[in-house]
Amino acid sequence: MTFSPQLRIPGPTPLPERVVRAQGRPMIDHRGPQFAALLEEITTGAKRVFETDNDLLVLTSSGSGGLESAIANLVSPGDSVVAALCGNFGERFAGMAAAYGADVVRLEAEWGQPVDPDDLARVLEATPDAKVVLLTHNETSTGLTNDVVRLARVARDADRIVVVDGVSSVSSIRIGVDEAGIDVAVSASQKGWMAPPGIAFVTVSRRAWELQARSTGPKFYWDWQPAKEFAEKGATPFTPAISVLYAVQEGILMLQEEGLERVYQRHRRLADATEAGLEALGFSLYAAPGFRSATVTSALPPDGLDVSAFRKLLERKYGVVIAGGQGKMTGKMIRVGHLGAVSEGDIVQVLWALEQALEELDIAPAEGRALAAATSALARETATATA
Ligand SMILES: Cc1ncc(COP(=O)(O)O)c(C=O)c1O
Repeated sequence: MTFSPQLRIPGPTPLPERVVRAQGRPMIDHRGPQFAALLEEITTGAKRVFETDNDLLVLTSSGSGGLESAIANLVSPGDSVVAALCGNFGERFAGMAAAYGADVVRLEAEWGQPVDPDDLARVLEATPDAKVVLLTHNETSTGLTNDVVRLARVARDADRIVVVDGVSSVSSIRIGVDEAGIDVAVSASQKGWMAPPGIAFVTVSRRAWELQARSTGPKFYWDWQPAKEFAEKGATPFTPAISVLYAVQEGILMLQEEGLERVYQRHRRLADATEAGLEALGFSLYAAPGFRSATVTSALPPDGLDVSAFRKLLERKYGVVIAGGQGKMTGKMIRVGHLGAVSEGDIVQVLWALEQALEELDIAPAEGRALAAATSALARETATATA
């Protein structure tokens, strides 16, 4: 019996008590002044997180809706689009463009490896007609963070519209939209924002609006024009997920109270501790060194471990819920989410449970190796931070 499940998947993330309470507030008129104030506060707060002066649209949808809105507004049937991908979510993004009638040119890095900016430059040189480039900042399926600043610079230098899937990075890993020259960036409430699923954020640059005005593809719910017009009047074109917005408002307040720089450092520290603990337990880290994500750690199991049985035991006996692999890595990897409201104590608990479960499955004796490795990783970082 466990009383407080440890939800360590890469989203949805556990809700802080404050957020849970916030979302229980009474409904309000979504065309009235209270809603206008709520939307204004969220928009201003989210813009600070994205680090942008561009427009920011708040859509009622999961992250995929935000991404699909980018395709619907920027890609016309028959357009050529470059999709730089290195995992399952990049695949999906490319698939969305294809579904809207684009001729998708794929630049595909091996899973676990980042997209190489030089490869992107070569592909863009060969595709002068492709106006839009799709990038994934944090590829959640492989636990890898691309160098979005370099990739965006390459695409900008080639005069393309840069669209970034930042669903599982923004608010946990710095993005710096304006500095990087990103035209459109998308994130979603159930990740580092510490809120339930249901809200997507989409930033839109002036260049992106110009392309949007010329786009000929079908759009209605996803049309950015009415979203912008309504937002200017403090409303949304359709009924918004008001309860989730209350939660998002509280989540953003919490991010501001902690300070974004500290939030980013906390995620990095916890990722390093998780990586150290998993390696000590005989897992092999999957993502390339130097590109390992601060929000989700992916690892291949030690010999003889049945990932599915392991995950079931963790949940049933220890209340620890971790993710498995996606797409071609289904059943072959584990992914531990450490984004949003997560602390050192959570990671320690998760690693302890993993070690116990490995012993129970006769893979390795529980000797405290994971905790020793994780705590020394944390101590190293504390020493570096205070030096
Ligand atoms: C990188 C990335 N892109 C897109 C998505 C899809 O977002 P959603 O499930 O909110 O539609 C996810 C969800 O995990 C993600 O991690």
